Amino acid sequence: MLGARDVVVFLARPEALEAPARREAAMAVLDETDRAHVARFRFERDRRIALASRALQRRALSRCVEGRVAPAAWRFEPGGDGGAGGKPRVAGDAMGLTFNVSNARGLVACTVARGRAVGVDVEPVPAEVPADVVDSHFAAVERAALRALPAERQARRFAALWTMKEAYLKARGIGLGGLALDRFWYAEGVGLVLGEGVDDDAARWQVSCWAPTAEHVAALCVARGEGGEGARIATRWMAGDG
Ligand SMILES: CC(C)(COP(=O)(O)OP(=O)(O)OC[C@H]1O[C@@H](n2cnc3c(N)ncnc32)[C@H](O)[C@@H]1OP(=O)(O)O)[C@@H](O)C(=O)NCCC(=O)NCCS
Repeated sequence: MLGARDVVVFLARPEALEAPARREAAMAVLDETDRAHVARFRFERDRRIALASRALQRRALSRCVEGRVAPAAWRFEPGGDGGAGGKPRVAGDAMGLTFNVSNARGLVACTVARGRAVGVDVEPVPAEVPADVVDSHFAAVERAALRALPAERQARRFAALWTMKEAYLKARGIGLGGLALDRFWYAEGVGLVLGEGVDDDAARWQVSCWAPTAEHVAALCVARGEGGEGARIATRWMAGDG
């Protein structure tokens, strides 16, 4: 059973589901709502990502309770005000599990914790920095930090800053529409900084960022426990069949 300080980031490659047996096994753990979600995507590549993500979500949660709940048995509901677009959560869960999911080409992630808010984001490193995104969404501190880097390091740093922003918004469950991206930033050596008027305390969040593959960047934002103690973070790869 996951401990109160533990946070696990489960990772999987959607391509693992190219093997028919793995695809069937993944389908078998989904419910009707998940299957309808997967079927909505027009391209096979996107259906595979959605399938990998929903199967990972269920298997990750089951791992964290040592199989006491089967992957197919989990039920979910939207969080927040219950409207569409709210952060999904486990329905009727007595164990206090929280989770968050992120999907990208080539990688899906599901973070699981107990009794604390978590947000995760994974993104491929872009071929080059999208200057328009930086100009319109990054804070002045981030723009300056990015431009001070040698050109060959900028794309990776851009992806790191972007994923940290998304992970924070997802941890809070407010999504991209909830807070303008230039009203908070990540400063090297300082951590998360919230601009004036943002109704939150930066000290309550633990933010980390790493490269789970050569092509991706991942960021995790976790609420600290009472007394400010940090979480114990682990990552675990799932092969796509268990
Ligand atoms: C939540 C959000 C930040 C996700 O960003 P993204 O880069 O598109 O997608 P990711 O792959 O990282 O995350 C998707 C997962 O986040 C989770 N999620 C959905 N709403 C969420 C929320 N409010 N907070 C945290 N997580 C959320 C879901 O598990 C979703 O998985 P699914 O798509 O397989 O159902 C973004 O879609 C968003 O802001 N949604 C809220 C509604 C909104 O403001 N819409 C305008 C978008 S342009």
